[in-house]
Amino acid sequence: MVHLSMVKKDQDVRPPPSRKLNDIETIPALEEADTYTSNVYGSHFAAEHLPQHEMPEQEMPRQIAARMIKDGLSLDGNPRLNLASFCSTYMEEEIEEIMADSFNKNFIDYEEYPHTVEMHNRCVNMIARLYHAPTGSDSDNAMGTSTIGSSEAIMLCTLAMKKRWQNKRKAEGKDYSNPNLVMSSAVQVCWEKACRYFDVEENFVYCTRTRFVMDPKEAVDRVDENTIGICAILGTTYTGEYEDVKAMNDLLVERNIDCPIHVDAASGGFVAPFIKPELEWDFRLPKVVSINVSGHKYGLVYPGVGWAIWRSPEYLDQSLVFNINYLGADQSSFTLNFSKGASHVIGQYYQLIRLGKHGYRSIMTNLTRVSDYMASELQKMGMVLMSQTRGRGLPLVAFHLPKNPDRVYDEFAIAHQLRERGWIVPAYTMAPHCEQMRMMRVVIREDFSMDRCDSLMADFKLVIETLDSMDQTMIAKYQTYVSPSDPNAFGLLSSLSPSHMKSQRDHPRHQIHASYKNEKHSLQGKTGKTHGVC
Ligand SMILES: Cc1ncc(COP(=O)(O)O)c(C=O)c1O
Repeated sequence: MVHLSMVKKDQDVRPPPSRKLNDIETIPALEEADTYTSNVYGSHFAAEHLPQHEMPEQEMPRQIAARMIKDGLSLDGNPRLNLASFCSTYMEEEIEEIMADSFNKNFIDYEEYPHTVEMHNRCVNMIARLYHAPTGSDSDNAMGTSTIGSSEAIMLCTLAMKKRWQNKRKAEGKDYSNPNLVMSSAVQVCWEKACRYFDVEENFVYCTRTRFVMDPKEAVDRVDENTIGICAILGTTYTGEYEDVKAMNDLLVERNIDCPIHVDAASGGFVAPFIKPELEWDFRLPKVVSINVSGHKYGLVYPGVGWAIWRSPEYLDQSLVFNINYLGADQSSFTLNFSKGASHVIGQYYQLIRLGKHGYRSIMTNLTRVSDYMASELQKMGMVLMSQTRGRGLPLVAFHLPKNPDRVYDEFAIAHQLRERGWIVPAYTMAPHCEQMRMMRVVIREDFSMDRCDSLMADFKLVIETLDSMDQTMIAKYQTYVSPSDPNAFGLLSSLSPSHMKSQRDHPRHQIHASYKNEKHSLQGKTGKTHGVC
């Protein structure tokens, strides 16, 4: 629980550093130590704990504050070796500089930063056209906005679908108190959040041990008069597979059902158009009314930007849009928050014009080829592939160990061993109804070249050999002794099996307040599904 932090009670706060040092036998501090002239590690700060619970009374020299923070961050994992995340870990220096120069721009100050707004409009136009939004003279204008990521975009699109459904029900004089949304049980947690936050019931199509995407017929069969829409995922978080949006669209048309489709193209939105341009999943399909994409995933921008696009204002009710005159300029706003940095929108514009379609196509082609190579290497080692190859899904490799009742280790032990070699490759349990199937996933990102892939495969082989050479007792010891001195050795809470999780949970950094323990409303709480990292 890293985002919702717990404020400690006074009794749980560490004793002040001075008392700590008084408690032990050590040499006295130098009387003449001067915080402003001495070097960082000769200053008294280096022999004290950094402030943790109470804002300090006094300033700290900036070089010392910066060095202490850098030292702390050096204990984080290396983002380049974090193969758990879909988020970009590489951008060119030229745009890094421009983005850093824009840190002090509030994106919302439209009047003050008109060129930034223009870049935003250009991004919306380019992305909408990439998704074949209707732009002919007979069309109404498609609409779009930037967001912090796909999660915010999904919240907005859920609200828009709900409002449209409510308006229709009200106009028909029907009850509008029980909206539901059809979606796969392999949805990213933001869909569960959207449903809970906006009082929409989850209408799940469950995965099975052999099918990790929605069966289109079952999805459409589940639509009833209270369904506000179907969420179809273009590249699921678990296995990267594309759901069959066209089949769902065609069934809805065939059965004359007035139910919109929203496509969660968080990752696939910047992959499929370049690798599978013939795949119909976007506004080419009449039932698709809105699409979200994360600019910070395969859009190739650092974390902090997503996009939501609507086919036309018909699917974005006026009551949700606020026209504000702010600092002298009129603006329409449909976002959950107000202020945000401008850098990421600028970064997205750079990537779109710098790379162009050809640039994205060459990057996505390389990633797909590296991912196919890794899939074949893992299969040679006996792993069972769960993801698609040859561009039929995202460039990632999802797999699990072959069935072997005699084997004493699982995917979580492999994840741990790889972590000891610096690689962050998560293991997790699949969506419900898959009998707690365990799996691993390697996301192939822009900066993961063939050489790095070879290094990972060599380490993977070593890990399997090491684990194969351990007997039951050693593995048991190994699993319970989860390097208590270094909770980060495992990196990600979600990459731990129950025994691993216990050790992690006991670390103060991961304490969850009693009020939030054992929740039963999420799929994780109800079924033990753990979420992949994004
Ligand atoms: C399919 C899918 N939807 C939504 C999200 C949430 O995206 P974001 O992290 O941009 O909020 C993710 C994250 O990986 C995802 O994979």
